[in-house]
Amino acid sequence: MTKVLMVCLGNICRSPLAEGILQSKLNSKDVFVDSAGTAGYHVGNAPDPRSIAVAKKYGIDISQQQCRKFSVLDFDRFDSIFVMDKNNYRDILVKARNQQDEEKVKLLLNEIELSIDEVPDPYYGGEDGFEKVFAMIDTACKTIAQKLK
Ligand code: 4NP
Repeated sequence: MTKVLMVCLGNICRSPLAEGILQSKLNSKDVFVDSAGTAGYHVGNAPDPRSIAVAKKYGIDISQQQCRKFSVLDFDRFDSIFVMDKNNYRDILVKARNQQDEEKVKLLLNEIELSIDEVPDPYYGGEDGFEKVFAMIDTACKTIAQKLK
C-alpha cells in the first residue's frame, strides 16, 4: 500500500483539504492518505469550519479529521510527503535524517503546471480564499491520483 502525507503549517486549513480530496479520488485499499502540521497550535482540533464547508460543498466530508503535528517518524511511515508552501518545505527538510527522507518531500503544486508553486495560506483571509485553495489542491490531486493508479 502506498502512503501519502499532506503537510501545512496548522493542519486545519490546507492539508486537511488535501487529505480529503486525494482520498476521494483513490481506493482506500490501495492508498493511505493522512495529513499533519509543522506547528502544534491546533493539535486535536477538527479542521477549520471554512475548510469543512468548502469540502462539503464538493461532496467531501473532512469533519472527522483531527489535527496532529508532523513527527520525524512520518519519514518512515510515508512514501511521499507533499507540502503546501516553501516554509513547510524548509520546516520538514530540517528534520530529514538522510537523503532518502529528503527525497520524499515535494511541493504539492510542483505536480502541475501553474504560475505559482505554493498553496497560499487562507487562514487570515475570507471564504473565497478557501475556494481558490480547494481548486488548486484538487487539480494537483487529480495528477497525483492518476500517477498512483
Ligand atoms: P494551515 O493554515 O497551515 O493551512 O492549516 C493555518 C492555520 C492556523 C494558523 C496558521 C495557518 N495559525 O497560525 O493558527
